Amino acid sequence: MGGSHNRVKGSAIVREVSTNFEDAISNHFGTRVPDYQQAQGAHSSYIAALRAHGTEVEVLPELRGYPDCCFVEDAAVVLDKTAVILAPGHPSRSGEVESVAAHLAETMGTIRLEGNGTVDGGDIVFLDDTFVIGRSSRTDALGAESLSRIIKSFDYNVEILKVPDSTLHLTTVCSSPREGTIVYSEGDMDASSLDEYADELIAVPPQESYAANTLGYPNDRVIIPSGFPETRKLLLDAGFSITTVDMDPIMQADGSLTCLSVFTG
Ligand code: GLY
Repeated sequence: MGGSHNRVKGSAIVREVSTNFEDAISNHFGTRVPDYQQAQGAHSSYIAALRAHGTEVEVLPELRGYPDCCFVEDAAVVLDKTAVILAPGHPSRSGEVESVAAHLAETMGTIRLEGNGTVDGGDIVFLDDTFVIGRSSRTDALGAESLSRIIKSFDYNVEILKVPDSTLHLTTVCSSPREGTIVYSEGDMDASSLDEYADELIAVPPQESYAANTLGYPNDRVIIPSGFPETRKLLLDAGFSITTVDMDPIMQADGSLTCLSVFTG
């Protein structure tokens, strides 16, 4: 069996926000047109927060013509120093993959999904020794099965879970900031679909669903988006020390904290 997920996050790649960020896809959280300059500021704060937690961050340049290119999580997932190259399910995003793949191939082996299925990295959540793959509007059955075969060949457990239509990705509504703990959006997910994977479920209230996407580090440290006081209190009460990042400009294009990185080591 593959080892338990470590949350050290020693290294990551991120990508500069597109100068065409106003054209990024926005179907869930947006309240105004995404703004490039505001998003650039939030992106810089995000990178600073990762670095403050010990992550070595490599910043790739903007990918011209791809308004969603900063959301690198959807292009690849790294398993034990091997990059699995994914197949994002929105047509405007499939062209982002090759550049990420070529970059990762400079430092690690890569594996491709078989067949014509689609998988967004935003539909992959690693819960200790189990990968949960979300079936969503972006990740189809073929893609989920193909990814599942690859993950199982690394000796990890895999579960496939239906992502509710109310949300974009599995990571949008659920994250695991420390071993045995899942933070989830109670307006989108049933506790019963998650409780077998965790000792502790922290339910984020419906009006703060965006804050269910957290980035956990060892020793109960967690990064969360600013502006979600109830979630902040729940996590403080659960013993976390908290860093907040103003993610509002990124949220306008349905992007969350995890969407902005591929963690590579
Ligand atoms: N705007 C991020 C996405 O829809 O993929």
